[in-house]
Amino acid sequence: MSQPTIESILHEERLFEPSAEFSQAARVKSLDEYKQLYEKAKANPEAFWAELAEKELHWFQKWDTVLDWQPPFAKWFVNGKTNISYNCLDRHLTTWRKNKAALIWEGEPGDSRTLTYAQLHREVCQFANALKSLGVQKGDRVGIYMPMIPEAAIAMLACARIGAAHSVVFGGFSAEALRDRLVDAEAKAVITADGGWRKDAIVPLKDQVDKALADNSAPSVQKVLVVKRTGQEVAMQAERDVWWHELQPKMSADCPAEPMDSEDLLFILYTSGSTGKPKGVVHTTAGYNLYTHITTQWIFDLQDTDVYWCTADVGWITGHSYIVYGPLSNGATTLMYEGAPRASNPGCFWDVIEKYGVTVFYTAPTAIRAFIKMGDEHPNSRNLSSLRLLGTVGEPINPEAWMWYHTVIGGERCPIVDTWWQTETGGIMITALPGAIATKPGSATLPFPGILADVVDLDGNTVGNNEGGYLAVRYPWPGMMRTVYGDPDRFRRTYWEHIPPVDGKYIYFAGDGARCDEDGYFWVMGRVDDVINVAGHRLGTMEIESALVSHPAVAEAAVVGKPDEVKGQDIVAFVTLEGSQTPSEALAKELKQHVVSEIGAIARPGEIRFADALPKTRSGKIMRRLLRSLASGEEVSGDTSTLEDRSVLEKLREGS
Ligand code: WT7
Repeated sequence: MSQPTIESILHEERLFEPSAEFSQAARVKSLDEYKQLYEKAKANPEAFWAELAEKELHWFQKWDTVLDWQPPFAKWFVNGKTNISYNCLDRHLTTWRKNKAALIWEGEPGDSRTLTYAQLHREVCQFANALKSLGVQKGDRVGIYMPMIPEAAIAMLACARIGAAHSVVFGGFSAEALRDRLVDAEAKAVITADGGWRKDAIVPLKDQVDKALADNSAPSVQKVLVVKRTGQEVAMQAERDVWWHELQPKMSADCPAEPMDSEDLLFILYTSGSTGKPKGVVHTTAGYNLYTHITTQWIFDLQDTDVYWCTADVGWITGHSYIVYGPLSNGATTLMYEGAPRASNPGCFWDVIEKYGVTVFYTAPTAIRAFIKMGDEHPNSRNLSSLRLLGTVGEPINPEAWMWYHTVIGGERCPIVDTWWQTETGGIMITALPGAIATKPGSATLPFPGILADVVDLDGNTVGNNEGGYLAVRYPWPGMMRTVYGDPDRFRRTYWEHIPPVDGKYIYFAGDGARCDEDGYFWVMGRVDDVINVAGHRLGTMEIESALVSHPAVAEAAVVGKPDEVKGQDIVAFVTLEGSQTPSEALAKELKQHVVSEIGAIARPGEIRFADALPKTRSGKIMRRLLRSLASGEEVSGDTSTLEDRSVLEKLREGS
């Protein structure tokens, strides 16, 4: 139900035009205007981006070359000097925005706080000085493992201000996962909190940091800066651990932004792939700033009266680009919410919208589907009339959920931007511009100006309308990832070699299947690799398999996704046991818990299926296609002639 099927797509004829009123006031006002921008950018991408960079950002020093493209390695705005924290803060202080709300925070349980641009600037400067006092310098990496509190954004901006790269690790990741990321980035310091609120419980973040650093297992980490959030007891280690509230009063609020080279490392963010450990996606300063700035402005149509709310966590790229950097760079009011949708508080999102008069709202299909289940009475009993624009991200949205969002939340008056992008792309790539492009439920519509998106075959040829293929991008863009941290070869292999260059022109391979319809609208079908998308979170099946086989009872494991009504996909693990072990409910539970402690709760398998053997080809490869069919309860179809032992399949079928 949750993924758009080919049938639903081919039969989708509904078209939703923005109202004349919306279009007139919009940043981009008509399809013609979009087409002109698109053609202009296509004809001369460098000139297009340079003009925007000049107009939209502050530079300490102008660049001398717009793009230096040594495929697959790009440099944008070469030799330019800028600072994203300056662009997000300082430049607004000389305007009326100085006393405008920059960050509205709605915390749990019942806490809230609003910071103006002047106040946010002050706190960022103090935090930056605190980092300096702890020995953090330009060029260092800093881990951030935080709940959704203003200090998470402050910490990111403080790092950027002094030229230290941040590596934010989602607070739902385990100590093990945190350690891997700190080690890979060779982080010098970690910023965390005593704890955070998540679904009515406290997450003991500082304890997890202690576990991650135990036995000197992340030796690069010298300092831990701890924000007091929940107030529970935590062990503070002398020399290493420092409370932020003890340091803050001593810190000067004067900390000029460091002029950074355009290509200086801004942050690393780890993401799952189909092989190996999570990759450190590298984003640099100027191109990322420009790309998040302009996409935020045009796609969310930001006006000075807007209250903009993106419900993501800052631990993911959506939080980086569209809670923190994009909105603040534009001088917008961005809202940050510590809570999460849950049965015990089925109206929580709608309360926040009503309380603050949210005008632009950006969330994930999985949240929309969860709210559909909780019942229309919750949104219907709140005043949502402030909303004027809606967005979705993270996974394909099924037309039913789209229509509910449009009708029940948007009151049939708000355009919906379905935004396709990835951690790697830095910002939104395929989306409607809300005043210009009519929408179809389930389609991300058209590429952003400057993005040469296409659907291709494995030779790089564009496929025909409504034929399935691979989502690809034919030209670099400023927000693109620059490399995999510490592993440029992996960057090349993962993104640039599945499709070989055509006439020397490199093509970016996104890992998604897609099709384009007769209007050029993109319909993204989901991953074509061994990556599954659970509730908008991207997980590599191999990572979960490695976690499972690290348990002594497990001999072999194969993990696949199966359709789930709310989460989009759920995790099913097929497991064979070591000789002396026998399957049981208790063991299944233990294995699920083991995955949680190895990776985090987001990777907890929905189902463990014990098997005598896994279906393999004669060359020993696990036949995931068969397992996927079995997990989804479908008939096993297609070619099974390479299956080595047919009885394995029979047994798995009987067992299910
Ligand atoms: C993958 C990227 C960057 C946003 C958060 C997820 C899927 C994302 C859409 C969309 C269909 C989507 C793709 C993509 N995805 N947005 N609007 N429609 N699929 O970032 O964790 O890097 O995951 O999310 O499969 O490759 P991510």
